Amino acid sequence: MLKKNIFTLLAMITGGILLSSCGNDKNSTGWEFMPDMYRGPALEAYQPNSFFSDSLASRKPVAGTIARGFMSYEKFDNTTEGYELAKANMKAPASIVMNEMELEEAAKLYGIFCGHCHGTKGDGQGILMTREKFLGVPSYAERELTEGSIFHVITYGKGNMGSHAAQLSPEERWKVGHHVLKLRRELTGEVEEAQAEEVVEETSETENQTYYRIPSPDEMFGFIKESGLAFNGELLNDIANSDSYTDPKMQALNFGVYSADLAYTAAYKEFNETNY
Ligand code: HEC
Repeated sequence: MLKKNIFTLLAMITGGILLSSCGNDKNSTGWEFMPDMYRGPALEAYQPNSFFSDSLASRKPVAGTIARGFMSYEKFDNTTEGYELAKANMKAPASIVMNEMELEEAAKLYGIFCGHCHGTKGDGQGILMTREKFLGVPSYAERELTEGSIFHVITYGKGNMGSHAAQLSPEERWKVGHHVLKLRRELTGEVEEAQAEEVVEETSETENQTYYRIPSPDEMFGFIKESGLAFNGELLNDIANSDSYTDPKMQALNFGVYSADLAYTAAYKEFNETNY
């Protein structure tokens, strides 16, 4: 009897605690039994943190980490060798796709950052050159350029041309480089090629918007028959095989195979071939 009372009492106390921890306030979390689980200790950037042996709260990125949107060009450093290496090997990442909008943006960026020296056409006759404020800007046609060499030159500068790394993100440098190569082609008379490339770009864009309907099995075999191929009963799946399709997946596959067989025989009007 006493034992039973103690249990009832315990149950009432526990129930009381559980209920009172909820409360009426919907915005309150109620009692928190392990607050650490709810609230992580927030640390300021340069606050000491005893958790790490060097007691720094700010952690360094793992060795070899490359920030999003940046690429490592350690190999392509600011030296003549780095320039030559970049010229021969450095390629724009696949994420740089030059559609109409990007081409427009590239031309705009070129106008802002390069045109006053190199000229809108890239002939080296920018306004600073024609007014003789600046000298020695070459026409792009005089130089051998690759997308890698242009990226290197924009990043580090060359001779009297300063680095434009602070003005243009790596992505923008690739885009501007694309524009420079286009100007160069126009200067050297490789325009047709340039135009051809643009046409290719246009068609690939329309291709993206063209959808083709996959022919049904009947249509498919219709085409095969029209092409003059003779009917070959041996291609059909033997009805005796039907027992080997045991699980639902295989049965579904089997259904597909027999449907195709039916369409094939129907196309050739060889109905006696299907023992269905
Ligand atoms: C202040 C004038 C000036 C500006 C602005 C400028 N350049 Fe140049 N650029 C030069 C000069 C001068 C050279 C010749 C450097 C040399 O080879 O000594 C040059 C050379 C180049 C070359 C040829 C380098 C080679 O490999 O031979 C390229 C490509 C080039 N610039 C691209 C650009 C692009 C792209 C921009 C804009 C982001 C730009 N430049 C902005 C003055 C300028």
